[in-house]
Order: sequence, then structure tokens, then C-alpha cells
Amino acid sequence: MILLTGGAGYIGSHVAVALLDAGLDVVVLDNLSNSSPASLRRVQSICGRPVAFRQVDIRDEEAVYDALKTYGVTAVIHLAGLKAVGESNQQPLNYYDNNVLGSMRLLSAMQRAAVKTIVFSSSATVYGAPSYLPLNEEHALAPTNPYGRTKLFIEEMLRDLHAADGDWRIGVLRYFNPVGAHESGYIGENPLGIPNNLLPFIAQVAVGRREKLTVWGCDYPTPDGTGVRDFVHVCDLAAGHLRILKHLKAPGLLTVNLGTGEGSSVLQVIQTFEAVSGRAVPYEMGERRNGDVAVCYADPILAKNVMGWKSTRSLMQMCADHWRWQSRNPTGYSA
Ligand code: UD1
Repeated sequence: MILLTGGAGYIGSHVAVALLDAGLDVVVLDNLSNSSPASLRRVQSICGRPVAFRQVDIRDEEAVYDALKTYGVTAVIHLAGLKAVGESNQQPLNYYDNNVLGSMRLLSAMQRAAVKTIVFSSSATVYGAPSYLPLNEEHALAPTNPYGRTKLFIEEMLRDLHAADGDWRIGVLRYFNPVGAHESGYIGENPLGIPNNLLPFIAQVAVGRREKLTVWGCDYPTPDGTGVRDFVHVCDLAAGHLRILKHLKAPGLLTVNLGTGEGSSVLQVIQTFEAVSGRAVPYEMGERRNGDVAVCYADPILAKNVMGWKSTRSLMQMCADHWRWQSRNPTGYSA
């Protein structure tokens, strides 16, 4: 039995499908602060198998411990956490509480229950501004905001735990920019309020929920002047979790990037989205967004060499799948 924290969220629901499709049993813990239980009902209908669910906050160590014991959990995939950069600047303590303290409580419960296999959802944001490209796992770690620092501190905690007790099996996945949705169109990203990230914003413009996109900066030293990112399909990302679980059959600590290794500009993404959706995505050029870098993309070779993972889906497919989800669920799970 695999325990998935944050399993009702965007990435969690896709990881749940990947695990169930691989024949594994899944129990989800989620406090539903930024997710909907409807996502899990849809996961069950995609896979035709049940998902156990408990509404639990990972800071509640006893509740986590009880779930680990009750379900006979053998490994944890830890995705629960707050993830908005801007909000983390306004509410740093809330971020340290949910993300860092939450992870500490989760790890304590795991230690007590003698469950010593964990996959942690980290982020390329731990690298901060790239001093070279592509970003490999050796790059210095210097996040530039509280959200990124919570990810770094949790990584450090895991490294300390592994140094203290060599029985632990720890996988750290540094995601680049997850986008897209399951090909069924049943599950996808469902941001509350105004989306911070590019793809959800574009999709809401295309479906008519918002008038136009603002492109944050058109004077970057990139081919078309707009920012360049490594967008990776959420189903490829989900497959990476399965891969690393298989790799963690022996004790150890593995940290890998999950990205495609290719950068796409904001304008390229808009054009691709327009082409696959057949909808116009009106946009205007705006100032640079505070804290953004010009270019960021992964060196994904370690994930390929060590655990045989590479991304398989194109930007076109990412946009097509994102659009299928958005057009069938214009208001997300609330419909
Ligand atoms: C952001 C976070 C990062 C987090 C990641 C995934 C920041 C600074 N970084 O990455 O920590 O791990 O999301 O959740 O927020 N863009 C627009 N208009 C928009 C939105 C975005 O032009 O309305 C541009 C951005 O300037 C950027 C690109 O699109 O060049 C991608 O932005 P976004 O989707 O927010 O991802 P990141 O900023 O790379």
C-alpha cells in the first residue's frame, strides 16, 4: 500500500492514476485546503479501482501514524504542501508551518511506524537563478523565495535523515514546469482564484473565463524576448514517481530532475495552445514579473541513466491534453 500525501491535488491525482494503473494500492491523505475530493472520484472512474481517502493534515502526526499502521503502508509519496511563490512572500510562517513542519511530522510518524521509504516532490525552484544551463543536479541550491526555501529545507532534512540512518530509501524529484492533464480529460489542474502559472491562465482565456493573458516580459535575452521554461507533461511526471519507487528497492538517497531538457518560450506555448484548441488566446505584453528568470531548463540525463525515465510527450500533446480537461470542465471540479 502506497500512501500519497496531497493526493487529491493536481499532481497527486495523476500520480494516483499511475500507481493504480501499475496495480498498486493507494491511500490518499489530503487536508483539501487546495484540492477537491471530486478528483479522487474521477481517479477511481478512470482506473476502475478504489482509492482509500482520509481527510488528514500531515501536521497531525497521530492521524498520519494511524493511517500508516491501519493501511499497512510500505512507502510514502509526499506531495502535500503550499506552492504559490507570491503568497509565500506574504505568509512565510504559513509556508514553513505547512511544508517544513508538516514534513517533519510526517517523517516522525514514518520513523515510529518503521516505514522508511519516501519520495518527495521537490522543485527546480531549489536552484534559484541558473548560473549555467541546462540545470543538472550538481547546480548550487539557492532558492529566492520562502516557498523555494521550504523545498530546500525539506530536502536537507531528508539528507540528514539518510546520513543518520542508512535504512532509509529516499527519492527527491525536482520537477520543472508540470502542465497538461490525463488524456481522459477527467482530471487536471484546478487552481483556486486567479492562476499564477502560465498554462492554467492560457486555458482559462481560451475557454472564455478570462479576457486576456499578460505576458510578463518581452525583453529577455531569448529568441523572441519572452521567458523560456521546461514544460513537462504531468503524466510523464507521474510515471517518474513509479520509476523512482522501483529504484528504491535498496536503501539510498537519489535526487533527480524531472524535465524534458528542452525550453519553450511563452509565445511558443501560446501559439501551440491556439493551434491545438482552435481558440484565440489574446494577450498583451507586460513588465517582467518580480523574481522571474529569463531561461530555465533541465538536464534530465541522470533520471534516464539511473532509473530509465525520460519524458515522452511533446508540447503539442501537453497543450492538447490541458485543453481537453479545461474545455470539458470549464469551471474545474466545481461544475
Ligand atoms: C513558477 C514558480 C516556481 C514553481 C512553478 C511551478 C515563480 C517565480 N516560480 O515557476 O517556483 O515551482 O511555478 O508551480 O512563480 N507567465 C506569463 N504570464 C502569466 C503567467 C506566467 O507571461 O500570466 C510567464 C512567466 O513570466 C514565465 C512563464 O510564463 O516566464 C512560466 O511561468 P509559471 O507558469 O508561473 O512558472 P515559473 O515562473 O517557471
